[in-house]
Amino acid sequence: MKLLDVETPAVLVDLPRLQRNIQRMADMARAAGVSLRPHTKTHKLPGIAHWQAEAGAGGITVAKVSEAEVMAASGLTDIFIANEIVVPSKARRLAALARRVRMSVGVDSREGADALSRVAVEEGVELRVLIEVNSGLNRCGVLPGAPVLELARYIKGLPGLVLEGIFTHGGHAYSATTFEQRDGIGLSEGQVMVETAGMLASQGIHLERVSVGSTPTARAASSVSGVTEVRPGNYVFYDAMQVGLGVATWDDCALRVTATVISRPDPYRAVVDAGSKVLGSDRGGNLSAVRGYGHVVEYPQGLLARLSEEHGVITFDQSSETPHIGDRITIIPGHACPVANLANHVYLVDGDRVEATWPVLGRGRVE
Ligand SMILES: Cc1ncc(COP(=O)(O)O)c(C=O)c1O
Repeated sequence: MKLLDVETPAVLVDLPRLQRNIQRMADMARAAGVSLRPHTKTHKLPGIAHWQAEAGAGGITVAKVSEAEVMAASGLTDIFIANEIVVPSKARRLAALARRVRMSVGVDSREGADALSRVAVEEGVELRVLIEVNSGLNRCGVLPGAPVLELARYIKGLPGLVLEGIFTHGGHAYSATTFEQRDGIGLSEGQVMVETAGMLASQGIHLERVSVGSTPTARAASSVSGVTEVRPGNYVFYDAMQVGLGVATWDDCALRVTATVISRPDPYRAVVDAGSKVLGSDRGGNLSAVRGYGHVVEYPQGLLARLSEEHGVITFDQSSETPHIGDRITIIPGHACPVANLANHVYLVDGDRVEATWPVLGRGRVE
């Protein structure tokens, strides 16, 4: 099928760019001597997860037990839920998965550990856990150092649980205002984790996994000796936010939305058929060069200024070249991850050819 035969709006994944992104991150992790466990929340596509594994990823990361179920059903065998599971019903789903594949899960409280331990004993399985550490994002996680040691000791005393490691996510790098700050956050993400692991080791608790990472901090955090694993996710696609953070160029951005100009109400305005139901409405953090809601590839001077559900409004200044009604344009979204989650399927494209249409099997898997 030709790209021009695809109805718009549609979500395209550029195959050469995707493969290049997958390979580069795998090479980066290999060179740093850490194992790569990509977060698949970005694409929610088992096919891409398999390509990541073929390029050298040792396992994958997901956010939810329902995503883990989709990935396990596709044949992936080492899955980390980098999130807390605290209710018995979900812990039982985790236990069912743990009978078939190598599962691990996050924990950041005694209550959470108790819940997992109870289900592990009832179900007769061992559950591998990693303590989530708050390295500055201030979302989940216990503070580094003594609070981690205290929870680690508690978990060690519980039946059915194996303490495999510690993990953190340097997502606060998305609010960095300079590249130096971004890399400083990455370095401190790694250092804080290695120091904490060292403190536990000095008390006789040796960890197999010291897991860090986000796309903007992957390189700096993995450069810290003692880090064993890195979990970037967005890098498969990149997006305007990552370009703003200086970790990618427009040419690296593999996920693109194709849309049609449906109205030219005045010389300075073009309206396209992709709105927030396709593009999401996430515009990204501080450093972001994201002007508006995304980058218009063919008309970089245009500003995707407004989204309503079904419409995107691009504004132009007097001197700009502008598109005509019926023209197709390409948008690199502000944040690629919600876009994949909103799409029923994506088109895998190479040049002007569509090589495959893949259902986004993990979309909407939020529980
Ligand atoms: C716990 C965790 N690990 C890793 C990642 C991947 O980070 P990024 O999307 O910056 O690649 C995320 C992203 O939200 C996350 O929440």
